Amino acid sequence: MEQKLLSLQDEAGKNLDQLVDAGQLEDFRIRYLGRKGLFSTIMRELGAVDQEERPRVGQLANTIKEEIEKLFDEKKALLGSSAQSGAKGASSIDLSLPGRYPERGRLHPVTQIMNEVCSIFEAMGFSVAEGPDVEQDHYNFEALNIPAHHPARDMHDTFYVSDSILLRTHTSPMQARIMESQQPPLRVIAPGKVYRCDSDITHTPMFHQVEGFLVDTKVSFADLKGILTVFTQKMFDKDLPLRFRPSFFPFTEPSAEVDIACVICGGSGCRVCKQTGWLEILGAGMIDPEVFKMVGYDPEIYSGFAFGLGIERIAMLKYGINDIRLYYENDLRFLAQF
Ligand code: FA5
Repeated sequence: MEQKLLSLQDEAGKNLDQLVDAGQLEDFRIRYLGRKGLFSTIMRELGAVDQEERPRVGQLANTIKEEIEKLFDEKKALLGSSAQSGAKGASSIDLSLPGRYPERGRLHPVTQIMNEVCSIFEAMGFSVAEGPDVEQDHYNFEALNIPAHHPARDMHDTFYVSDSILLRTHTSPMQARIMESQQPPLRVIAPGKVYRCDSDITHTPMFHQVEGFLVDTKVSFADLKGILTVFTQKMFDKDLPLRFRPSFFPFTEPSAEVDIACVICGGSGCRVCKQTGWLEILGAGMIDPEVFKMVGYDPEIYSGFAFGLGIERIAMLKYGINDIRLYYENDLRFLAQF
């Protein structure tokens, strides 16, 4: 019995060394370790061994079985890992495949337009100033001649943080912030994010504006028209018609909203320009004497103009995009085109 066990161990060890695939491994398991396998058959003969000898032979049988199982597991792991690396190796070595290039990141189209707008104004002598998105009611409204309960506040659909703190609804607070700390002559642009509770194909709740203002002696509306005309020529590389529509802002007088011929339909009327052929891109006007008084400038000496440009609107026109919300859906198939 003992001899049978030892020769079974020897035979199983040698056979295991020869195995090369999972099929042979399974045959081995059935032949030696299965319920009707050679090992079980020998174990069934254990009852015939002398009673004194039985514990020792039984112990030997267990040790040999554990040893064969251990060798079997090792062989199984070895064949499994080489099968995997074989499969990988076969598919990964294809020298005719083109190389894999790392994806290149790019600036968001709105950021690209923002940078372009800023550099056009910088080339015209404007310096850049930045202010907070979370703004005091004072700078967003009061200092711009919009006191509490003034009906003009309704135009802004404001997100309030508290009674006196809000998300700025426009970049115009930068007029007051800069003017109260600097003396004319001033030629400043203030780019940044602004927020309004507003959403449709030409409005988003967060959008970008560039505020621009120029304060000096003898500044006129003609200077404003001149600067904005040069800006649109440079921005769109052609003479696009501009339309100055009389409007109202409490911090400018006279005021205008400026429209540009809709480049999406060429002026014939479409969904984006609401069939008018024009798209509003900015609000502007001559700075109201009341605003000058609040920051301590003498309106008898100084005059100035200001404008607030909607950057997403410019980006829509420049790229022919007919829904402003596409800029903020984070669809890389859309964003990767710019
Ligand atoms: C203003 O915000 C004034 N502060 C502009 C101004 C500055 C007037 C200085 C006078 C002097 P308005 O609300 O019209 O004005 O917005 C200016 C521009 O921002 C609009 O012409 C439009 O291009 C853009 N805009 C307004 N609301 C949205 C919105 N929800 N989504 C995208 N763009 C918008």
